[in-house]
Parts: sequence; structure tokens; C-alpha cells
Amino acid sequence: MTIRLALIGCGSISRRHVLSMQDLQLRGRGDFVVSAVCDANQEAATERADMLEELLGVRPAIFPTYQAVIAEAEVDAVDLCLPHGLHHGVAVDSMEAGLHVLCEKPLGITVKACRLMAETAEKTGKVLSTAAPHRRHPGQRTARWILNESGLIGSPQSFFHSFRSATVLRRHEQEPAKGPDPASLWAEKSRSGGDQRPEHIRWRQDRLMSGGGPVLDSGFHYCDSLRYYLGEVDKVYAELRAVKSGKPLPFTEAPEDTVFVTFAFKSGVTGTWAWSVAAPGEEAYDVTFYGTRGSLRETTNAPFSIFHLFQRTSEFRETARLTGADGTIYSMERLVEMHRATLSPEEEEFLYPGGATDGFSVEIWEFLELLRGNREAPEIDGWEGMRSIALGDAIYESALTGEAIRYEDVLSGARSSYQDPIDAHWGLTD
Ligand SMILES: NC(=O)c1ccc[n+]([C@@H]2O[C@H](COP(=O)([O-])OP(=O)(O)OC[C@H]3O[C@@H](n4cnc5c(N)ncnc54)[C@H](O)[C@@H]3O)[C@@H](O)[C@H]2O)c1
Repeated sequence: MTIRLALIGCGSISRRHVLSMQDLQLRGRGDFVVSAVCDANQEAATERADMLEELLGVRPAIFPTYQAVIAEAEVDAVDLCLPHGLHHGVAVDSMEAGLHVLCEKPLGITVKACRLMAETAEKTGKVLSTAAPHRRHPGQRTARWILNESGLIGSPQSFFHSFRSATVLRRHEQEPAKGPDPASLWAEKSRSGGDQRPEHIRWRQDRLMSGGGPVLDSGFHYCDSLRYYLGEVDKVYAELRAVKSGKPLPFTEAPEDTVFVTFAFKSGVTGTWAWSVAAPGEEAYDVTFYGTRGSLRETTNAPFSIFHLFQRTSEFRETARLTGADGTIYSMERLVEMHRATLSPEEEEFLYPGGATDGFSVEIWEFLELLRGNREAPEIDGWEGMRSIALGDAIYESALTGEAIRYEDVLSGARSSYQDPIDAHWGLTD
């Protein structure tokens, strides 16, 4: 059965999705078609339609709104690549109209938004899968195996993550501001017309549309990966600042550029995450997990390496290695081979379908297989997507209140002061 997809949102990440669709097609796994694209920006939609025609051989119809896609396009599912605040509304309407949904991370803008999406998937019986490629890359599959199954470094005990730079590009700052000081653009000001930057950049400056700054955006990957490696968190304590302007501002006034978080996991593992893109002078990149008998360390100097732990693709350099208590050293490349050697052919096909090792290709293939009835459940379903965003929101809750926050309290909704204004804006109630 040829699955018909609609690509909703034709910005930067949709380009990556199309490249992975081409990757699948080149692997003989092209039994799908993108028959519709949708973007509020006609130019972006046309550009993506051109790309699809060139790379996949079929030109999709172009729709200006997602409502038009639902009403008119003959599709089975949507690939949702919109700004965060739009995820829940589009996903819920799509599922209620009978469409399956692959939704870009973070699944919803808040825990309540995610809960609504997960409940709708259950109610309608439609597939809802979170597009989060990082844990699907060989590096993260391998890191999880090292920490939990291999015995190579013993039981995980602690981790120390530090990323300090002033030279990396952050998406929040990719375009120079033509309007007022970027530090003043957080929240209302970007919506009141003061920000002259293109809309596709601007939404990330608006907490009611983005849900948060780096901790929730690329940080979703970090939180999802930590949970994937180490299980559930018990509590977090966080200090977030925006220091770039020269006067340290609370994160409520400008998106955080400097982050300090302490994590306590239910397993007893503890760790720290220190991250700054406002640290001029000496730079440092170091992610080290310690077990009872050794360590796993990465010192990759790539723009988002602290978020993209052990991502291992051609785009990201990787200098990870394992050091045992006896001094034995294994390169990450060797470790990936060692892990893959433990997999049965069925497990290998499940993790790396047709040999694909790109997390985007893997997540799209998994979604297609779910729709064909060849897999039972998404690896990151609505509830799992919700749990990863709850960790980001627990970090914000701590930074806002100055208290150590129990993760379960954010997950259950007992602690929500950070998310309350965002939920109120989108009319998300219990
Ligand atoms: N997996 C990853 O590594 C990764 C990387 C980047 C972004 N993302 C995620 O992908 C999603 C999109 O991010 P992006 O970087 O592509 O953003 P983007 O700003 O580049 O693209 C968003 C697109 O949505 C369109 N849009 C906005 N409002 C719309 C509406 N009401 N109707 C139709 N179209 C509308 C915009 O015109 C724009 O083309 C986000 O959830 C983001 O977190 C994931």
C-alpha cells in the first residue's frame, strides 16, 4: 500500500525530512508519496514542492492552510513540522479527521498540550509518533547499550556535562535583529510588531509560540536522550540566565544563553549540565558519563554537541571514547561495531532499516511501518513525548521558583507555574 503523506510546515527541518525520504527511496523503501505540502508562506511551500519533485519524482499539491489539507487533500497521514505552539491544534484536528501524525519535537508546547495529543491518539486509534531522531542514531543506541547492557563501564553513577562557547550560532540569534535589542524581544514584544526579523526566525523568540528557549528547543533532544540513557528523573534544580547583553537577566526576560542544572535520577544517578553560548575566551566541550568501572566521554566541538549527545552522523564530528578502569580505551566507532555485533538480524533491521543509520530516515520509516501494521507502537508515542518535555518544563519550573522540583509533580500537573501562561494562551485546560 502506497502511503500518502502531507508535509505541513515547509521550513528548515522539513528540508531534512525530504532528504531522509530520498534516503529511504534510494534504499528501495520508497512505497510512499508526499502528495501535499502546506505552509503559510507560499514561497516556502513552493520551494519544498520543487525539492520533492526533484528528489522524489512527484510534485505535491500546495495548500495554504492545514484545514485545507484536512478537507481537500487525499492523504493518510501528516508529517508535522510547524512551530511548537501549533503542534497540538493541528495534530488533534488531523487525528480527529482520520489522519495519522508524525509530529516534530517537542511533541506539544506544554505537558497539557502533549496530554491532549496523546489522549486524542488513544480516542481516535490513530498513530501519533514523536519525530526525535537523536536517540535513533547509532551513537545514542550504542551509548544506551554501553550504560545499561554492555557492562563495559559498570553501573552508571554520575555525569558531568560542560559546553562553553561564544562562537556557536544559536537558532535564536541566526539573523541580526533589525529592530530593538534582542534581549528585550522575549514574550510580548515580538508579537507587538517590534521585531522586524523574518517570521520563521521570530517565533522562537516568543515563549507563547516556542514554549521556551534552548532548554526546550534543542534541549528537548538532551532531555529525551538523558531519559533514554538513564531512566526517569526524581528532581532537578536549575539556574538559567541571559548574560549576553552584559547585565545578567532572568530567563523570563530573555531566552536563556547560560544554563546550570543538577539532576537526581530515580536510580540514584546524579549529574550536572552546564551550558553557555555567552562564554567568550576559553571554550570547552565535555560530556562524561561515569560508571563503577569506567567512563564514556565525548569532546566533540560541534555547535549543538551538548544537545546532540553521541549523535554520530556525517554532519557532526565525534570524539567519543570509553575508558575502562584498567585503562583500556575503545573509540566510539569501535563501540558502535561492538553493539551492532550483538544484534540479531531482526533487531538490526528494527534499529537500522535497510542499513539506514540516519535518525530522520529511521523515524520516518518507523512511522510508515506503523501505518502498514508492521509495528505495534511508536518508540516515542504521545506519552513518551510528553515525558521528555516534562523534564524541560521541570527545569524551567525550578528556575522560575528557585526550588528543587520533583519531575513527577510537573508530569502530573501539580507544579505548573511556568507553563500556566502558555496553557492559558492556548486555552489548554484540564
Ligand atoms: N529534529 C530536529 O533536530 C529539529 C531541528 C530543527 C527543528 N525541529 C523542529 O521542527 C519544527 C519546525 O522547526 P523549523 O526549524 O523547521 O522552523 P521554521 O521556522 O524553519 O519553519 C516553520 C514553518 O512553519 C510555517 N508556518 C508558521 N505558521 C504556520 C501556519 N499557521 N500554517 C502553516 N505554516 C506555518 C512557517 O512559514 C515556516 O515555513 C519545530 O518543532 C522544531 O523544534 C527539529
